[in-house]
Amino acid sequence: PQSLPLNGKRFLITAGPTKEKIDPVRYVTNHSSGKMGYALAEEAAKMGAKVILVSGADNISAPAGVTLVKIESAEDMYNEVMKYFPESDVVIKSAAVADYRPSHVYDKKVKKQAGNLMIEFERTKDILQELGKNKDRQFLVGFAAETNDLEKYALQKLERKNLDMIVGNNILEAGAGFSGDTNIVTIFHKDHSVKKLPLLSKHETANEILGEIILKMGDD
Ligand code: PMT
Repeated sequence: PQSLPLNGKRFLITAGPTKEKIDPVRYVTNHSSGKMGYALAEEAAKMGAKVILVSGADNISAPAGVTLVKIESAEDMYNEVMKYFPESDVVIKSAAVADYRPSHVYDKKVKKQAGNLMIEFERTKDILQELGKNKDRQFLVGFAAETNDLEKYALQKLERKNLDMIVGNNILEAGAGFSGDTNIVTIFHKDHSVKKLPLLSKHETANEILGEIILKMGDD
């Protein structure tokens, strides 16, 4: 149907946490459930977009009409995102990607021993920053999960990562952020316009975010 607003657009969306291995038994991760990213993928597909969803989330089923690419680590996510980036029109990075991973992955289980265990961490690649450097026509949307100074940090990320738009959520606010079915977000555009949304379901939030993307993409 030609009348759908995202007909013919290719979306690349990331969702969920990453898992960074310590040994064959243990890993480091975060509280992302994938709900925000899956809601974006489902609503974009309903609006006619072709959606690739790169996801580290478990226990959540793939939205209808979306191509799901499952990953585990930040490095896996980097590789898959880079693969699909050139053919994408819009990229939305709602995944909670690890900033650090253990610098050494043990190939055997680490056994209990006397005293404390020290694990050294090294930085992962910042996927979004890399996309910002390499983008040509792509409309690039980041997320910012903050506990304080949301506007300041969101605007810094928008600038530093060369984004078109960033969606900020304060993860300490009741009803916002990780795991639940609702979110409270503020959308910051590169033209400095701001849209503050109330408490909404993640699907309603996704629809609002997609509406802003459609509005701004049309400006270019
Ligand atoms: O999955 P849910 O349970 O529904 O929760 C939703 C959510 C809280 C995870 C989501 O709304 C959200 O805020 N996602 C971004 C989480 C995050 O990692 O934010 P950040 O401020 O640390 O990172 C900023 C941006 O850079 C993000 O777009 C992130 O995907 C990206 N990033 C970060 C690190 C890294 N190595 N590579 C990246 O691309």
